[in-house]
Amino acid sequence: MNVKSLEFKNYRNLIDGKIEPSEKINIIFGNNAQGKTNIIEALWLFCGGHSFKGSKENEFIKFGEKFSRIKALFFSQNREQEAEIIFTGNKKEVIINGVKKNSSASLIEKFNAVVFSPEDLTLVKRGPSARRRFIDSAICREKLRNAVLISKYNQTLNQRNALLKDIYRHPELKNTLGIWDETLCHLGSKIIFQRLSYINKLSADAEKYHFGISDNTEKLEIKYISNCSAVFGDDEEVIFEKLKASLKESKREDIGSGFTNIGPHRDDFNIIINNRKAKVFASQGQQRSAVLSLKLAEANVLSDLTGENPVILLDDVLSELDKKRRDFLMNEIKNYQVFITTCELSGEEYLKEGKKFFVEEGKIS
Ligand SMILES: Nc1ncnc2c1ncn2[C@@H]1O[C@H](COP(=O)(O)OP(=O)(O)OP(=O)(O)O)[C@@H](O)[C@H]1O
Ligand SMILES: [Mg+2]
Repeated sequence: MNVKSLEFKNYRNLIDGKIEPSEKINIIFGNNAQGKTNIIEALWLFCGGHSFKGSKENEFIKFGEKFSRIKALFFSQNREQEAEIIFTGNKKEVIINGVKKNSSASLIEKFNAVVFSPEDLTLVKRGPSARRRFIDSAICREKLRNAVLISKYNQTLNQRNALLKDIYRHPELKNTLGIWDETLCHLGSKIIFQRLSYINKLSADAEKYHFGISDNTEKLEIKYISNCSAVFGDDEEVIFEKLKASLKESKREDIGSGFTNIGPHRDDFNIIINNRKAKVFASQGQQRSAVLSLKLAEANVLSDLTGENPVILLDDVLSELDKKRRDFLMNEIKNYQVFITTCELSGEEYLKEGKKFFVEEGKIS
């Protein structure tokens, strides 16, 4: 797929206007704090309406204005399509091909992009919640109904946790826990099943990319860590039974802590380089390469799923990589539409080739 045009109205610091990108490489350049990342973020919003920076809806609206609108014309699913997102206060309205939608989730089926930004290093460095978000957003793109599944699971989890806190004061409520357990295991096993199958695909691709980036010296593995010992190959029923047994085992601990300790909400995945956990042992460069491999794999899995290449958004990524890694990356994504932000237009080939957008105080020229 590719973006034909992108239009802004009262969007962050960008001056109202429209850009018409190339189908290949687009270079967004300019000094710090001029609006480059804001353009990348606007493109990313068409994937489902959430910022990769974790911003709230009203932060997109230009200071002092009441609403903000971004509009994209893009080619996907073999036709030209149009999407518009309007932010007013804390509300968001999505219009796709002229039809108003109830939820921004409907964008997920239409528009696909993969973003690489310096913040993605948190995937290796930080705690498990960033990794769970990464994997859950991926399975939601695979099947929209996974989003419903995850949301129902979280509701059930909250109810079970509330009951656990009550049991502490009213032990007689203990017998009612079973009602929630059944639902929790039913929904939870489906989520774990989807995650295991996604990680299995992702891991194979990421291993291949990382091997290439590291000059065939490093083996990258991604291993899903399930706290009920579910493994790839287990079917949903097997995972259901494992989850139920583990939940039963942790009942005492759960009542003691007033919290559900077992389930996909506590799972994680390990990123392993040459048999060692990347989080603990990998150098900065190795961590960066691992994330790059993971993101390229994400793009590849998405291409297989949708039958078309997602748009690639590279925010401040190239300057952080050495020349060999930059060349590797650019070669891998040569068939994609790419948006690159950079402060310097140094002499590399791809910078010469790409269509240029100069950004200064929000003005794009
Ligand atoms: N809602 C808003 N209204 C007006 N300006 C905003 C809004 N939100 C952010 N900005 C401003 O937009 C400016 C540009 O931000 P952006 O992150 O796009 O810069 P950048 O060009 O990517 O810079 P860098 O090279 O440092 O990454 C910032 O100075 C920021 O304060
Ligand atoms: Mg930036």
